[in-house]
Amino acid sequence: MKSFRKIGVLTSGGDAPGMNAAVRAVTRAALAHGVEVIGIRRGYSGLIDGDLSPLRIRDVSNILNKGGTVLYSDRCPEMLTVEGKQKAIETCKSLEIDGIVACGGDGTFRGARALTELGIPCIGIPCTIDNDITSTDNSIGYDTAMNTVMDLADRLRDTCESHARCNVVEVMGRGAGDIALNAGIAVGATGIIIPEVPYNDDELCEKIKSGRRIGKRNFIVLVSEGVGSDYAPALAKKIQAVTGVETKFARLAHVVRGGTPTLRDRVLATKMGHFAVEELLLGKSNLVICERHGDIVSTDIAYALTADKLNKGIAVTEEEMAVFSDEEKAGMHALAKERRDDIKALYSIAEITNI
Ligand code: F6P
Repeated sequence: MKSFRKIGVLTSGGDAPGMNAAVRAVTRAALAHGVEVIGIRRGYSGLIDGDLSPLRIRDVSNILNKGGTVLYSDRCPEMLTVEGKQKAIETCKSLEIDGIVACGGDGTFRGARALTELGIPCIGIPCTIDNDITSTDNSIGYDTAMNTVMDLADRLRDTCESHARCNVVEVMGRGAGDIALNAGIAVGATGIIIPEVPYNDDELCEKIKSGRRIGKRNFIVLVSEGVGSDYAPALAKKIQAVTGVETKFARLAHVVRGGTPTLRDRVLATKMGHFAVEELLLGKSNLVICERHGDIVSTDIAYALTADKLNKGIAVTEEEMAVFSDEEKAGMHALAKERRDDIKALYSIAEITNI
């Protein structure tokens, strides 16, 4: 079995609250095994450019509660090129980095898979506010993002109540409606509009009109960005025109990506960071650390990425599918279905409770 003397840790793609807690856990878990840790700055860009330095036990002190990422992050198109991957491998070889823990989303995992194929074992930790990694029930940063949206929407509700207004609130999530749906339930939004469930604006307007007739003063409508960037501002105009209720539009955007991580995200990041190191040092690689029904487990990166595609309705080639056993294929389809069913079931609860 490969023996590990030094590992790297990086954060890549859109940042997420709790990334620092993951970096801290990876560092402390590796040092506890006598393995040195190198902090790679700006994700794969730092690996390609050699922008890195050792992380010792005190270097990760006081970061558990910090938003953003102390290692900085980047989206790195160069990592998609043969030259970029080669440069990343050369950095690992020249610094004797035996393996890498990569914290981020699906793009980060594709980078990790490429490096593993080129001889540097990698393990991914899902860090994204979107919660769009199908193989894990929760990604790091998602809980904080939902709580931030809940807090901001509660504030908007206060002022809507004072002025008898409606506020259409657009939130991030890429193609996933998880943040909008859960935060929408938590604030009792009159409308929740997400890409996974068909929605009818006219019915929403009727709901607002009938609410106003029986004395409802405030209306919050949560929209996930995945339905299209022009949708929410246009909807705000339509609601005002059709219902006569003064309607404001707010795009929360990146504000939801910052801030101090919740307890849930700090604990999840610590468990996943610790487990990633345990798995790597056992000689395992090309894995994503996942939370499934409360347990921390690991899933093959190819399996996780293909399950994502099935869940999101992205075409999967026969060649891509051919590497999996029948049991794995059935497992991926079941996982994708479970995710879609969960969203629909939760949505139907919101339709009953959010009147
Ligand atoms: O994936 C995280 C995310 O914040 C998405 O919700 C959003 O669509 C995207 O990243 C924004 O990316 P950028 O930081 O490049 O503006």
